Amino acid sequence: MEEEGCRLTIPMVHPSRLSQETSGLRIGQPLLTLESVPSTNTYALDRLPSLDHGTVLLALNQSKGKGRLGREWRVPPGKSISLSIVLKPTIQPDQLTLLTQLTAAALCRSLKSYGDSKIKWPNDILVDGKKVAGILIESHFEQTSLQGVVVGVGINTNLVLEDFSDELVEKASSLRLLSGQLIDPSALILSFLSQFNALYEEWMTTNDPSPFIHICRKDSILINKEVRVYSPDGAYKEARVTDINASGELMVQYNGQQSPEPLRTLDFSVRGKNGYI
Ligand code: BTN
Repeated sequence: MEEEGCRLTIPMVHPSRLSQETSGLRIGQPLLTLESVPSTNTYALDRLPSLDHGTVLLALNQSKGKGRLGREWRVPPGKSISLSIVLKPTIQPDQLTLLTQLTAAALCRSLKSYGDSKIKWPNDILVDGKKVAGILIESHFEQTSLQGVVVGVGINTNLVLEDFSDELVEKASSLRLLSGQLIDPSALILSFLSQFNALYEEWMTTNDPSPFIHICRKDSILINKEVRVYSPDGAYKEARVTDINASGELMVQYNGQQSPEPLRTLDFSVRGKNGYI
């Protein structure tokens, strides 16, 4: 952390240092820094055939970030991490849910040193009960063949209160606000990519997702909670979350039902009875 008079200087990414540090990782090879793009996910999807497996695209400024369920992901320049990982995996389309869970496990682990990090299935990461990071996975198929996957990750590092709308401030925060310290984005990116690389390589080698499913279960904020499951039209059903199954699906037991069932579609959102969680 540097001080300029009484003003704090927000630490910036050091692209050359970062790509040197990720040089031993399969994921993060190469690491390309983009000055400003509308969305790192869209940038990657538009250039998928020419990007190698493992490429990471890191935006210094992202002007039109995309969130899950068609939402916007808006962040002020220089105060957050916006990156996309390009993968050309040999997985089946129904294993994409597992990839979201692998990413959530890697993110959750890399955020442990900033506070009590938890996963709100499928793609929100919370620290001390507030959302600080989100995941958006997009894929490209030709006929039924998977051409590539883009794993988009956004992390609120150095945002301050004024950067959040009244609506968002209830459920979201930044690592800076929660820890009271300026966050070094390079260290966090390196930690996340190292965790992702280790879990991904292990999964591809063993074909066994249980190591990261174990993390998702252990650090789930939803398991054993009474929730509302919302369908895209805004209707909801009350249920209790019982588990995350071996396919990465949330197991919910709807009120009045005898046994839990998997929540198969990612179009549904799960919220606490009194709000976000
Ligand atoms: C969510 O929580 O709804 C998901 C947010 C994902 C945001 C990231 S930022 C990098 C990548 N590029 C995008 O346009 N979105 C993802």
